[in-house]
Amino acid sequence: MREPLALEMEPDHGGPLFLAIAEAITRDITRGRLRPGARLPGTRALARELGVHRNTVDAAYQELLTQGWLQVEPARGTFVAQDLPQGMLVRRPAPVPMDPVAPRAGLAFSDGAPDPKLVPDKALARAFRRALLSPAFRAGADYGDVRGTSSLREALAGYLATDRGVVAEPSRLLITRGSQMALFLAVRAALSPGEVIAVEEPGYPLAWEAFRAAGAEVRGVPVDGGGLRIDALEATLARDPRIRAVCVTPHHQYPTTVTMGAARRLQLLEMAQRHGLTLIEDDYDHEYRFEGRPVLPLAARAPEGLPLIYVGSLSKLLSPGIRLGYALAPEPLLRRMAEARAAIDRQGDAPLEAALAELIRDGDLGRHARKARRVYRARRDLLAALLGEHLAGRATFDLPAGGLALWLRCEGSAEDWAEAAGQAGLALLPGTRFALEGPAPQAFRLGYAALDEAQIARAVEILAQSVPG
Ligand SMILES: Cc1ncc(COP(=O)(O)O)c(C=O)c1O
Repeated sequence: MREPLALEMEPDHGGPLFLAIAEAITRDITRGRLRPGARLPGTRALARELGVHRNTVDAAYQELLTQGWLQVEPARGTFVAQDLPQGMLVRRPAPVPMDPVAPRAGLAFSDGAPDPKLVPDKALARAFRRALLSPAFRAGADYGDVRGTSSLREALAGYLATDRGVVAEPSRLLITRGSQMALFLAVRAALSPGEVIAVEEPGYPLAWEAFRAAGAEVRGVPVDGGGLRIDALEATLARDPRIRAVCVTPHHQYPTTVTMGAARRLQLLEMAQRHGLTLIEDDYDHEYRFEGRPVLPLAARAPEGLPLIYVGSLSKLLSPGIRLGYALAPEPLLRRMAEARAAIDRQGDAPLEAALAELIRDGDLGRHARKARRVYRARRDLLAALLGEHLAGRATFDLPAGGLALWLRCEGSAEDWAEAAGQAGLALLPGTRFALEGPAPQAFRLGYAALDEAQIARAVEILAQSVPG
């Protein structure tokens, strides 16, 4: 939404101003003036329109994000949530249109997307063609297994065992359309409506959306330089016995990129066992470890019988446009996940799955991973060197041991800096995008992998030129 919001504020609200703004927005949502998916103005623009301080509008948005009225889409903005309960809305006959996406700035640090130019497209296209023309596909007039094509589940089981030490019976694997679907199904299968899942704070807002859509409440647990704070998790569990699951990104915490150390991993596994919690491990970018010894997933060490759902994705290894994720879960959970998936999607895309099975079996995927690691490592090093050179004293970072993003901490307002950089043609993702309940970190997630050397240099130049104040 680019026009003024023209909110009707209660003249004698009496309470804090930010709540008056939040209430005016919820009124407009419930009466259908602001529809699900509608884009809200930036905090600066709305503050200007209302003649209030920007922090006031920010507090109103934070309140509505916490309550689930709004959602943040990294790199796009703040929107009215898509999944508001029907009873909260005025019925409208027409389908809900999405507002047009804001024009992109010339350059963007993504939230960690890979470079589409590196996708082994020819090998994938050849394998897809072979799958389409195969006797198996031509003869298969009926539906297949909801868990996914058996050739892919077998190939993936082998890949997970040799690449990550995760022993996966193909029967316990469910192929999904991206890990987003797997995260949703995991919580649907593991939790009853009204139960709570603890998540990392700051964290991955799209996972929170999936968990809420699956009927769970989401509670943030702070993260520090060692990943999820186990002491804080213990305290949160003591306060809220409805917490029945924990979701973590231990390989490279999203968005801060830190790796959870061995001691915390063991504590987390022990705590999950002691409290009977389900663990969801979102291992979205396992292939990208540039330094040191490989760090195996929690799933490689989980004690027998622990309900751990391991979720993976090909979005970072290949491309987010190739919708392929997977979940590995103990038998009863996997069955429930498969049943829920069948209710909305009878099965995945059989020829695509067969093609990817071929790429794994023939070693193309492994070769691609090795090449991509080399390219991204060089880009990470270049970004780190340039940031060190041009932003010393303005921002700090720890060199990420892997992943496709760098977490840049700054002193002043990251939002202001992002706004100035945006004006200069560089889109940034400030910490507000990743905050759930706690204060927004003054930092940026700089997803650099899709930028070539010249673009990285230009992006750092813009960053340095747009330092606020
Ligand atoms: C933390 C996290 N989990 C999972 C994913 C992958 O999502 P999908 O497999 O649905 O593309 C992403 C992608 O951005 C991510 O950042």
